[in-house]
Amino acid sequence: MDDGIFVGGGGADYGEKQWLNLGYANRHGLIAGATGTGKTVTLQILAEGFSSRGVPVFLSDVKGDLSGLAASGTETHKLHEAFMDRAGKIGFDDYGYVAFPVTFWDLFGQQGHPVRTTVAEMGPLLIARLLELSEAQEGILNIAFRLADEEGLPLLDLKDLQALLVWVGENREALSLRYGNIAVQSVGAIQRRLLVLENQGAADFFGEPALALEDLMRTGADGRGQINILAADTLMASPRLYATFLLWLLSELFEELPEVGDPEKPKLVFFFDEAHLLFDDAPKALVDKVEQVARLIRSKGVGVYFITQNPDDIPEDILGQLGNRVQHALRAFTARDRKALRMAAETYRENPDFDTEQAIREVGVGEAVTSMLQKKGVPGIVQRTLIRPPSSQLGPISAQERTAVIAGSDLRGKYEAGLDRVSAYEMLKDRADKAAAEAAAQEAREEEMQAAEREYSAGRRYSGTRVGRSTTKPARKTWSTRHRDTDSFGEAMAKVVVKELKGTTGRRIVRGILGGLFKGR
Ligand SMILES: Nc1ncnc2c1ncn2[C@@H]1O[C@H](COP(=O)(O)OP(=O)(O)OP(=O)(O)O)[C@@H](O)[C@H]1O
Ligand SMILES: [Mg+2]
Repeated sequence: MDDGIFVGGGGADYGEKQWLNLGYANRHGLIAGATGTGKTVTLQILAEGFSSRGVPVFLSDVKGDLSGLAASGTETHKLHEAFMDRAGKIGFDDYGYVAFPVTFWDLFGQQGHPVRTTVAEMGPLLIARLLELSEAQEGILNIAFRLADEEGLPLLDLKDLQALLVWVGENREALSLRYGNIAVQSVGAIQRRLLVLENQGAADFFGEPALALEDLMRTGADGRGQINILAADTLMASPRLYATFLLWLLSELFEELPEVGDPEKPKLVFFFDEAHLLFDDAPKALVDKVEQVARLIRSKGVGVYFITQNPDDIPEDILGQLGNRVQHALRAFTARDRKALRMAAETYRENPDFDTEQAIREVGVGEAVTSMLQKKGVPGIVQRTLIRPPSSQLGPISAQERTAVIAGSDLRGKYEAGLDRVSAYEMLKDRADKAAAEAAAQEAREEEMQAAEREYSAGRRYSGTRVGRSTTKPARKTWSTRHRDTDSFGEAMAKVVVKELKGTTGRRIVRGILGGLFKGR
């Protein structure tokens, strides 16, 4: 088939070739199944298939075993015989071993090129999700982003956000007048969450140089699509960071890519492993956004494939949009399992040759119940398919092999060194220093004046003239006495801010307020 990716053999004796149509590959997909049933290998062969057809791929490697895509399979591999056998069974005549073009990425910069984004790019909605903020705390984060925007304070890294929050805390009285109550406890709570995030190693992730999306959408000189592998093994220890990062990436793709309608083949295919993490106790607003991104990103030519154990991990509205499906075996131990199994089976177009529910229970390892979109985007009749064996290496490559791939990458050097531009942290620090210097100068001036006044009164007293009032306590409070026991920098800044805010309202486009997700929508 010219316009499809070979997935495996279905029908009687697995002799009927099953294809994933490239023209409908942007209508998303699902790979599901219990543990050890073949999901990762299915992901591997789909990635191989897309790459071979010139479609770049992005995938997260949760257990580290997908790095094998970068190496060729070998005849010495312990499954060589099994693979050949399987290939023969499904009539895969030109099966052979080959390595694929791989780029490794890593949020922590250890196992691949560093991936970074800025705090502003990620935006308050996703950062609130990342920090697990309450509604009130999220409100304050929104105010902070808005202020940063109005004040022209770039929010690049976590340091910037921390400095901004300190500033909001110090000025909360003045800011509360404008934005409603800003509770000091809430500001403190956000700051503590930021510390937790930092301890998870996220500090490296926020900053510059930020990831350029075009670097995920490359095809090589040989016409094959680059397979971008995100090292996610360490990242999985922080499931929130993992899910939020992938969601951010999806929303960036959605916003940055041009509309292409229904392309001949996708511009990029995005595999979202452990997809249930995205939806675990996610607020409805977030699920709605994911649903919307999934629906709209299609016309940008991006296909999204969710990988999860059970299809009912995925909200119905989103599941309904996953047109290409590979359902590996599901267990039916409990009543709940059986219900989930029945519901999974009901979503397929029945095949008169077998019972779908029973097939999902019975399929062997590396075998699946599949349904791919056919002409006009109609779901195909369900098939019992033996999935093709991989051409690249099954299982991870060694650390040395990985290092060699990273060293040989065209992108080598582009992201490795972090940049630390002048941003909110430095600017606020600068303002604080200036305000402190000014306050000190003012104080010195007042001291001088008071001293002069004292001298003058003392002079008068000395001359014997009666003085009716105290000379040490001026009738009108001076700046310095008013501010001596309050946070002078904070209040001084608040005045500056409130003054500066006048007239700026509505002038700046508030990108930060909705952040990375749905700018201006
Ligand atoms: N298409 C296939 N061709 C040949 N062997 C396969 C295929 N799919 C799975 N296998 C075999 O089954 C094993 C388990 O598959 P895989 O690692 O993909 O399971 P999984 O569903 O990802 O498991 P987990 O949930 O633990 O990650 C593989 O290591 C391989 O030996
Ligand atoms: Mg797996």
